[in-house]
Amino acid sequence: MEKLSGHVNNPVRHHNRSRFTAYCLGAASLFLLWQAFYLPWLEPSPQATLLDQQSLDILEEGLVKCAQDKYIPERSPSPGRKNPRHNNKTGQKNAVWIRNATVFDGEKFLEGAHDIYFVNGVITITIATAANTAAGQIPDGFTEVDAQGKWITPGIVDMHSHHLIELPGNSEMASDGNEVNPDFGPLTPFVRSLDGIKAYDKTATYIAAGGVTSSLILPGSANIMGGEAFPVKNLLRAGPDGEEVVEELLLEYGIPTERRQRYMKMACGENPKAVYSHTRMGNAFKFREQMAKGKELISKQNRWCLSAAAAKEAGDFMAIRELVKPPPHGKPGYPEALKLDSTVAMLRGKVNVNIHCYEPEDLEDMIRHSAEFGFPINAFHHAIEAWRVPEMIKNSGHNITIATFQDAAFYKFEAYLASLHAGKILTDHGVAVAYKSDHTGEDLNARYLLSQAAGAHSFGLGAELALQAVTSVPAKSMNQAHRIGYLRPSYDADLVMWDSHPLSIGATPVEVYIDGRATINNAVYLADSQHFTAASIAPPMKKEVLPEEKQKICNPAMNLQRLVLTGISKSFANTIGIKHTADNDSKMTLILESGKVACFGASGECVHNAATDTVIALEDGHVLPGLTAVTGNMGLLEIPSEESLMDGEIKKNKDVFDPANLVYAKYGIHLEGTGFHRARIGGVTKIVTPPLSQNSFIKGVSTAFRSTGNYSILDGGIVVDDLALHVVLGYMARSDATPSTSDQIGKLHKLVKDNKGKDSVYGKVADGNLPLIVHARNKYDIQQLIKLKREHKAVKIIILGGHGAPAVAQELADADIPIIFTAQRGEEDLWEKQGTLPGPPLSKSPTRLLVEAGVKFTIALVSDWSSGIHNLLLEASWAAKFAGLSHQQAVDLVSKDAEEILGLPKSEDIVIYEGNPLEYGASVVLTVDTEKGRVTECWPSVT
Ligand SMILES: *[C@@H]1O[C@H](CO)[C@@H](O)[C@H](O)[C@H]1NC(C)=O
Ligand SMILES: *[C@@H]1O[C@H](CO)[C@@H](O)[C@H](O)[C@H]1NC(C)=O
Ligand SMILES: *[C@@H]1O[C@H](CO)[C@@H](O)[C@H](O)[C@H]1NC(C)=O
Ligand SMILES: *[C@@H]1O[C@H](CO)[C@@H](O)[C@H](O)[C@H]1NC(C)=O
Ligand SMILES: *[C@@H]1O[C@H](CO)[C@@H](O)[C@H](O)[C@H]1NC(C)=O
Repeated sequence: MEKLSGHVNNPVRHHNRSRFTAYCLGAASLFLLWQAFYLPWLEPSPQATLLDQQSLDILEEGLVKCAQDKYIPERSPSPGRKNPRHNNKTGQKNAVWIRNATVFDGEKFLEGAHDIYFVNGVITITIATAANTAAGQIPDGFTEVDAQGKWITPGIVDMHSHHLIELPGNSEMASDGNEVNPDFGPLTPFVRSLDGIKAYDKTATYIAAGGVTSSLILPGSANIMGGEAFPVKNLLRAGPDGEEVVEELLLEYGIPTERRQRYMKMACGENPKAVYSHTRMGNAFKFREQMAKGKELISKQNRWCLSAAAAKEAGDFMAIRELVKPPPHGKPGYPEALKLDSTVAMLRGKVNVNIHCYEPEDLEDMIRHSAEFGFPINAFHHAIEAWRVPEMIKNSGHNITIATFQDAAFYKFEAYLASLHAGKILTDHGVAVAYKSDHTGEDLNARYLLSQAAGAHSFGLGAELALQAVTSVPAKSMNQAHRIGYLRPSYDADLVMWDSHPLSIGATPVEVYIDGRATINNAVYLADSQHFTAASIAPPMKKEVLPEEKQKICNPAMNLQRLVLTGISKSFANTIGIKHTADNDSKMTLILESGKVACFGASGECVHNAATDTVIALEDGHVLPGLTAVTGNMGLLEIPSEESLMDGEIKKNKDVFDPANLVYAKYGIHLEGTGFHRARIGGVTKIVTPPLSQNSFIKGVSTAFRSTGNYSILDGGIVVDDLALHVVLGYMARSDATPSTSDQIGKLHKLVKDNKGKDSVYGKVADGNLPLIVHARNKYDIQQLIKLKREHKAVKIIILGGHGAPAVAQELADADIPIIFTAQRGEEDLWEKQGTLPGPPLSKSPTRLLVEAGVKFTIALVSDWSSGIHNLLLEASWAAKFAGLSHQQAVDLVSKDAEEILGLPKSEDIVIYEGNPLEYGASVVLTVDTEKGRVTECWPSVT
């Protein structure tokens, strides 16, 4: 009796305690009574002795598990709920009353200003400011925060991140993302990200500084079933003792384990295929076989549970003995296997299933498997090509969320058919879309997840849908929308106050509350309001030109026509002598004749004839110079993971001193490719690319070429054949020939010293007749380059990367070493990036330090594939916002300044936009090469 009633304490029965307890106690007592009074009178068979206590325990434990099989954790909000993460030692101390905020509540924009009240880590009141002031509803004793009309959103939710299990810095020993030991093979549903989480990874703090308060930490995608994922809040040391305890990071800290949500990470397509040398056919079979094993165990369990319940009810001790008897190879009682536990739970619908899958056929295949075996699908992750089959996804029988990237694309075959309009297409078909980071470093930095929503909005996704895609949609998909993803009473007090409209460029948190705790405290590093006013309304979406209009205007004859563009608000094309409109409110007109500027001025000045001229009437036209982008490999490859779809790669260049081994990008360049469409919609007219190489200290000689217009290699397509010699320092350039950074820098000294006056590329570099672009990040490596420059003044050193540059900005300026800066939103994801400034709101912006010291620099994107070359000017605009630069200076950074630094001829390209391209939502109307007199692009578009 004692023993049985002890089961009442089993935590499982918290859920449905009264009914289940009554059942157990009732049934158990009857059973004991029956044993005591009736057994002795039965005809005893030789084995039919009294059931021992141990057998009864096994039966009862099994029955508890049978009940557990049907239990699905709570998934709906409950009024008056507490935040289980709150503790009264380190948790939110004072209640907070935020006054006068502009609110997006996770679903919609609230009308008028609002006040928000939260206490003990839970939001308890949201009320219109006016009503509150009138009614005085707020209780006493609180910290008052005046939002002054600023935007507040729920904390951003990232449903796909690998921080905490993959420490930044490329340390193999701190990398726990993929269980690829061959002992296990491609099916490891039984491993858990939990066991790899490091509760000291300060990446969480950086990510939170971007407003991302919750993240789902998934195992990697090497395996078909990668293991269980765990949601966390990005607040380190949040427990009562303030220690680095994994448990205290968990979103569901404070909730009994068996009542928590479970998450499975799966993968299909290229990754498991590549790691295990399977085909898609093999992947599918392996997976189905695993499902079949799970099903088999479930049948056994169900049979056992039915028999156990029946045997107990009937008091059939023979049957009970049979049920608690160990099978030939296992333990007695309820059938289970640790290795199959998560598979079984998944097949019982108790696990949120998150599948990394890209291509339509992979999505379809998984949906087919789910129908065959009966498991749910919560989300397809990455799913770059899902936009091609929205109806198939919608009709799958599951409510599948597409957790995808807005910009990242083309990095592998299954990410090739990406669409910048995917978010709009999918949501138009009623498919839920979430944006997520895949955080592994600065190229997919979770901290800037919100900017994906902003990008999606510019490509047509409604403002509320875009914000839902980083708040409530991922929260719902994760079955945590009763706690996170909304800013409403009874939700966790995770909220972000932004410096400008959250969908505007460079929107940055002023304050981030997690469980009611302020985590930024002192955001002193925000924008210089002189040049960038805090946008309070959402920027526009890109205006799509009607096909008829495009056809009318964009035709081969357009070069010969007089093209009249009216409605131009501003010009930043100083470089070609087209002047600023200054504070003049009246719109201007630009007239092109044979691809040259014939007139630019007030509409009265530039008269046109509507009957004979082609008139393009703009609403908010902007004129800019063509931009120059320094890229990693554009023009030399189509898909980086496909050896056959690229120029080919120098690997471990052995004799680095023999100029005969040098590679020239100019010999391999193609003037088209998928990425080029994105360059064209971003107003990029010139691209600089070094040769491809892997682990090569000497990369080779870069070339500069046109990315717009129908130029060929024979006809102006290449702007500068030999632009610069590229040399790489550090980890990425280690090979037998140059095994260490010290060796590399030593060789660089030798290269400069030994080649002076020689008639070779190295001679030109040594004499300063060809720039030397050194890919360098580390502060100390950069100091070495300053030293080299001091010793060899003639050498035209340019640094590409430059993470450590802000720390030695003055010395760089004094040495006249310019930077092609890729670290304005950098992260310490390599050891040699140690000391990378995190930027606002945690530190001054790194670009500001460069500006203050007078370092010459241009902005380049971290990679060709992660953010998208169409965002180059937006990146410069973002930098300018925090560096105290004007709009004109932002434009110059990626046009005039880039040309000067790289020694390119002054560009004569102009780009005319509808909308302000320094903010989201502008589109290129025309690109004109005014030197050659050619309209090179007309309403360029992308998939
Ligand atoms: C703080 O929490 C502890 C443990 O939950 C509880 O015993 C104590 O009463 C709480 N103190 C206050 C002031 O709420
Ligand atoms: C709210 O903030 C806006 C913007 O700063 C201000 O104009 C308005 O007066 C404020 N309202 C209240 C009630 O404080
Ligand atoms: C499907 O999921 C989305 C996002 O998770 C949610 O907004 C929507 O209400 C769900 N639809 C149904 C029918 O459950
Ligand atoms: C605006 O500029 C045009 C010429 O560009 C000039 O004619 C006009 O007077 C200016 N208006 C003002 C208010 O300065
Ligand atoms: C480029 O050439 C192609 C094929 O010759 C032609 O269809 C297209 O209109 C041209 N584009 C421009 C902008 O002249």
